Order: sequence, then C-alpha cells, then structure tokens
Amino acid sequence: MRTAAVLVVIALAAIALAEHAHAERMYLRKHRPASSFTSLQRRQLGLDAPRSLAASKHASLLGADVGAQPLVNYDDEVWVGDIYLGTPTQGPFSVVFDTGSSDLFVPSVNCGGEACANKTRFSAVKSSSYIPNGKPFYVVYGTGYVAGTEGNDTVSVGGLQVPDVAFGEADVLAKFFENEPLDGILGLAFQDISTVHNPTVADRMAQTGVISSNMFSFYLSSTDGDKTSFVDFGHIDSNYYTGKITYVNVFISSYWLIGMQSISINGTKVHDCALDYCLGVIDTGTSIIALPYGNKAVVDAIPPVFANCTNIATLPTLTFTLGGHPFDLSPEYYVIRDTSTGTPQCVLGIEVLVETTPFYILGDPFLRAYFSVYDKSTTPPRVGLAPSRHP
Ligand SMILES: *[C@@H]1O[C@H](CO)[C@@H](O)[C@H](O)[C@H]1NC(C)=O
Ligand SMILES: *[C@@H]1O[C@H](CO)[C@@H](O)[C@H](O)[C@H]1NC(C)=O
Ligand SMILES: *[C@@H]1O[C@H](CO)[C@@H](O)[C@H](O)[C@H]1NC(C)=O
Ligand SMILES: *[C@@H]1O[C@H](CO)[C@@H](O)[C@H](O)[C@H]1NC(C)=O
Repeated sequence: MRTAAVLVVIALAAIALAEHAHAERMYLRKHRPASSFTSLQRRQLGLDAPRSLAASKHASLLGADVGAQPLVNYDDEVWVGDIYLGTPTQGPFSVVFDTGSSDLFVPSVNCGGEACANKTRFSAVKSSSYIPNGKPFYVVYGTGYVAGTEGNDTVSVGGLQVPDVAFGEADVLAKFFENEPLDGILGLAFQDISTVHNPTVADRMAQTGVISSNMFSFYLSSTDGDKTSFVDFGHIDSNYYTGKITYVNVFISSYWLIGMQSISINGTKVHDCALDYCLGVIDTGTSIIALPYGNKAVVDAIPPVFANCTNIATLPTLTFTLGGHPFDLSPEYYVIRDTSTGTPQCVLGIEVLVETTPFYILGDPFLRAYFSVYDKSTTPPRVGLAPSRHP
C-alpha cells in the first residue's frame, strides 16, 4: 500500500498571524517510493518534451492577454506544468503551481548532488535577459531546505512572457526532491509570505500588463496521467465547472486564507468552529486535506477506507462550510485511488497533522471536486469555488 506516497507540499507556518509578514516557510512532505517517477515515466507522460501552446486545444480558445498552462496529473497527488526561463528560453522546468506558497525556484546549473542529478538546471550566464541581484535565497522545508541565490529573468508560462520576475536559483535541493517529478515550485499565494519578499509570477503578470485581469483559476482532473488539468491566468473557463461560482473573501492576504465554520459528515456536524474560528487554506500544492492537531474525531467519524477500494460507495459525504456556504465532498474525491500498479489501491486523503498549525488545509482532494478562482482584482481578494465539470 502506498500510503507513504501521499505527497504533501504544505505551506505550513509556525506563524503567529500577527507577524505573517515574517512567516517562516516550512513544507511538509511524505516520500514516494524510490521507484516512482523515473525519467521513463516522465517521458511517457509527455513532460520532457516541450509542448507548444498551440498544441493545447484549451489554450487555442483564449485571447492574447490570458495564459493557459496545462498540468499533468501524477497519481491524483501532484500536478505539474512546464515553464521556461531566460533569453533564449531554457527548460522546460517542471514545476508545481502552488497556491500555498509565494516563491519561484528552479535548480541552478551549480546544483550538484543526487537531488539535482536528473533535474533541469538554469544557467544564468546563458541568458541575455538575466539580472543578478546578489541576494541569498533560502526556503526551509520540513525535511531540509532549498538554498542558492536570487536573480531576475523572464519567465515563460502558459504562453505568456513575464519580464523581470525575481526567483531563486537553487544550488542545494533537499533530498526529498530526488524522486519527485518536478524541478521547482512556482508559488501563487501573496507576496507577504514570500521568502524573498518579491511579487509572485501572477502578481508580475498583472503589474506588467501581461494579463488584464488580476486573477487566475485552476481545474484539477481526477485521472492519473492525464493532461486536461490547467491553471489559467487572467481567465475563467466556464466549460470546467457547473452552476455558479461562490466567492469567499480572503481575510489576511498571506495564504489564500478563508474562514471555515464547520465540518459535517452525512449532515451531522463533527467539528464546529463557532468558538475557535477555523482558518481554511486553499492550497493546490498539498496532496491531502490536512486538519490541525486535535481534529482526530473528524477522521475517526469516517469509516475505514478499504485498501482494495471496494467500499468507496458506502462512505459518507463530508461538508465543509466556508464563508457561510456549504461545500460537499464525496468519497470519490477524499479517497485517493492509486492505479499506478494496475490494481487500484485506496487511501483516505484526509490526515490530522501532528505539527502545531492553526490551518485547515484544503488541498487537492478538495480542489479536484471544486474548480477554483484566485482573485486579487477585488478588495479584499477572494477565492471562488464551483463544482468541477470533468470533460
Ligand atoms: C537519474 O537517472 C538515471 C537514469 O535514468 C538513474 O539511473 C539514476 O538513478 C537517477 N538518479 C537519481 C538521483 O534519481
Ligand atoms: C527584480 O524583480 C522584482 C519584481 O519581481 C523587482 O521589484 C526588482 O526591482 C527587480 N530587480 C532588478 C535588479 O531588476
Ligand atoms: C476488500 O477488503 C475488505 C477489507 O479488508 C475485505 O473485507 C473484502 O473481502 C475485500 N474484497 C475483495 C473483493 O477483495
Ligand atoms: C452516510 O450516508 C450513506 C448514504 O446514505 C450511508 O450509506 C452511510 O452509512 C452513512 N454513513 C455514516 C457514517 O453516517
């Protein structure tokens, strides 16, 4: 059973919210088996070959001031897309588009060691648009860290050229990156929690007028290996959700942080946030739904998931009440089904964290069920959610 395969890229903070501007970055991650994600698998999934935007049917429907970035689904646990850096462009760099953090980094050509052995690496000296800024880059993770220097360059993402983006060039990658299908992480939360205190790639798109609407949206598929998932910049594609988008205000611009009132199971409240207002974080970079320590009763109220997947239909529906609106989550989403070995294996995609954190992290199991919009064009910013329509 690949319980250990559940990937977690959690923007977990040891932060007191009052000092969120100085939040320390910390990621939690569980390891995949070493056999996962060989370069052969990567090629089969089409990740190693540069894809032209025109090849994406979805993208061809869009206008000039919007970006369409296809993402590949790995085991319903990680979604990665290709970006390019510099002039002429280098890459592709496979990155996680992570709404739970705010920094972009890729490995630098100086990155040695096992963790960088099979990574695409960026060479600053080969880029005519590169501007060094000399600052150190350092992000702390649960099992290590990423360190290097910071520079500015053009980022090509979703068919858009975004000039003068500050990013980290990692000389050292923590060991846990070794077996992951990614070169770096592209953070899409707020500048306040950026380690380098720089605008995110999406912020730069809006600042430089590359997109005309300061928002982006995610559709995450539920099919291992497929390439229908995407993040659109400056655009909402109504073909990928049903009904109306429900918007909830962000109350502190750090993570995409929204108020949660309760969690119910089959309509019965199992956690009431009335007294301790719950902090929900909408996070594409976390493979599970992670609840703070003290929420064991929630998980205990869900009957055990059979590893052979035969009891999924009998499991209850969960309801998360966010910003006063109920969002149902059926077992087909909160159970993670791994089909990579041929025989499906199932595991509950909800865990209680042992670390001290105030956050209810609504990660990929929630975001496969709900198309999500991240809108900075309003004051305060807001998150939009609507049931996904899978093509
Ligand atoms: C890098 O790829 C090669 C060839 O596929 C493989 O033999 C090696 O084990 C990989 N190294 C790491 C650290 O994953
Ligand atoms: C690097 O980019 C950031 C925005 O991402 C900008 O504020 C800063 O001025 C740039 N630095 C240089 C040296 O161009
Ligand atoms: C599936 O697993 C459950 C629990 O372990 C077991 O009771 C059941 O017999 C299994 N069903 C099949 C078809 O293997
Ligand atoms: C939840 O409802 C489903 C469908 O009505 C039912 O089969 C299941 O036993 C209920 N589960 C719990 C834990 O109440």
